[in-house]
Amino acid sequence: MSMRIPLLLALAAVLASASSGRPVAADDLERGEALYKLCAQCHGSEGGGDPSIGAPPIAGLPDWYVESTVTKFRTGVRGAHPDDLAGLRMRPMARTLRSDEDVAAVAAYVGSLPPTEPDSTLEGGDAARGKILYAPCTACHGPAGAGNQTLFAPSLQHTSDWYMLSQLQKFKAGLRGTNPDDTTGKLMRPMSLTLVDEQAMKDVVAYILTLK
Ligand code: HEC
Ligand code: HEC
Repeated sequence: MSMRIPLLLALAAVLASASSGRPVAADDLERGEALYKLCAQCHGSEGGGDPSIGAPPIAGLPDWYVESTVTKFRTGVRGAHPDDLAGLRMRPMARTLRSDEDVAAVAAYVGSLPPTEPDSTLEGGDAARGKILYAPCTACHGPAGAGNQTLFAPSLQHTSDWYMLSQLQKFKAGLRGTNPDDTTGKLMRPMSLTLVDEQAMKDVVAYILTLK
């Protein structure tokens, strides 16, 4: 008994260091870079995205979020709804990654890319009205939109306006965040329901774009 507890503690410490904030090994990044060649066809070699095919900028997204969301695409928790056309484009790409180690390696590489500054593409959003709508969002995404790993909320700082609008629409329509296994998407879905219409979504997105 007395031997087991220290062993368990040691094991817990190893598991904790493996799941978050672990140092990224150089060969992980190398493997990630090799795997990223496929991703670059849609997300671009610098991770700036391609609006013409609905591929968002991903450069500099935190590795924990990339790992979690790519795993969701891989397992059909995200991007499997028949009406989620952009999700259906991403899902088979995630499925080319053969193991959790490959997902972690490509996530580490994506996280190491310097964030890009996407141009604004939407018109008609009112950032002043959006600021009021954004107040409840700060609880998870933070006042500056930097995200919060403890609450599983990604950064919104380097994301495109068209992509954010599309995701708010998907959450609201139940194309994202409704799979029973989507424990973190479930946190976001009720928030999307507070945005009454497309105008409200455009307003909040216009405000998020001012956060840098
Ligand atoms: C065929 C084009 C294509 C390829 C190749 C591709 N993706 Fe995607 N990816 C997309 C599209 C489209 C979306 C947007 C899905 C949506 O709207 O939900 C996306 C979404 C994502 C997201 C979600 C971003 C966010 O903010 O939630 C991540 C992360 C991602 N891709 C990573 C990758 C990685 C890593 C690879 C390589 C293994 C890859 N993608 C390959 C098209 C592609
Ligand atoms: C209770 C915490 C919480 C609140 C409050 C919240 N969010 Fe989120 N949000 C999340 C989580 C968690 C995710 C990631 C879900 C996932 O893993 O798929 C997310 C994802 C998103 C995304 C998609 C990001 C991406 O890269 O795909 C957008 C856009 C977004 N939130 C905007 C908002 C806006 C706007 C508000 C306020 C109206 C808001 N959020 C309020 C937790 C929250």
